[in-house]
Amino acid sequence: MLLLCLSLVCCDSGDIYPEQKRVEEVEVRVEARFDFENMQAFPQNYRIVWGAFVGTSPYPLAFEVATKPATGTWQAATLQTVPRGTTHMALALLDRVEDKARYFFHRVPLGGDGELTVDGTVDLAPFARVQAQIFTPQCIQCHGAGGLAAGLDLTEGNARANLVDAPSQPDNSPKMRVEKYSLQNSFLLDVLTLRPATITTNHTTLSSLDAVDDIELIRAWITSPND
Ligand code: HEC
Repeated sequence: MLLLCLSLVCCDSGDIYPEQKRVEEVEVRVEARFDFENMQAFPQNYRIVWGAFVGTSPYPLAFEVATKPATGTWQAATLQTVPRGTTHMALALLDRVEDKARYFFHRVPLGGDGELTVDGTVDLAPFARVQAQIFTPQCIQCHGAGGLAAGLDLTEGNARANLVDAPSQPDNSPKMRVEKYSLQNSFLLDVLTLRPATITTNHTTLSSLDAVDDIELIRAWITSPND
């Protein structure tokens, strides 16, 4: 299974080794086990992977896709080889269509001795993931870079303060944009799922928005005690 995955990905990695037909592999021993928190935010359409990365490139050289673990604990396969050039292993969120990392949950440099053991707790719904998966790629063209619709700035570094305990435009709703721990009182969710009459731009039909994963992630973040 893993070898199949490696070979499929290797054929695809033209970005990284344009000249080479085959990526050389080096022997390592990598074991990884993750205990997921906020399992509700485990995606169906985006993929969570354990992968081999180089430097700051978001494109993994090879990866294994995590299947949703019933227990909350995922034991990644023991990698016996990784592509030559791998600088670190990471638990990453990949895009729905491209094999490109949108967010890194956990990154570990690959040492010279060829052994790596990772065992840790991973929060699936930190605010940083909401920013990387939803706000930056899908919202800031209207709420940030390209203007400030409804006075709402969803750019990185500003989004949180513009949402949590921040009042909505008075004409739109008496609710806060986000009230942590309350799905009912968070206008953000109404805008994305209910199409309130006061909002002229229908956000429920934004073509980029994943009706399952993006919404579940926002719900999980709002109700999460972390971040
Ligand atoms: C095509 C432009 C556009 C995009 C893309 C867009 N919005 Fe909006 N948004 C608007 C406009 C315009 C309003 C103001 C609508 C109104 O008041 O009638 C608005 C209002 C809102 C409000 C209400 C704010 C308040 O204080 O009343 C929220 C929350 C919101 N958007 C969240 C988002 C999120 C989250 C995304 C990304 C998933 C997003 N929007 C993407 C145009 C956009």
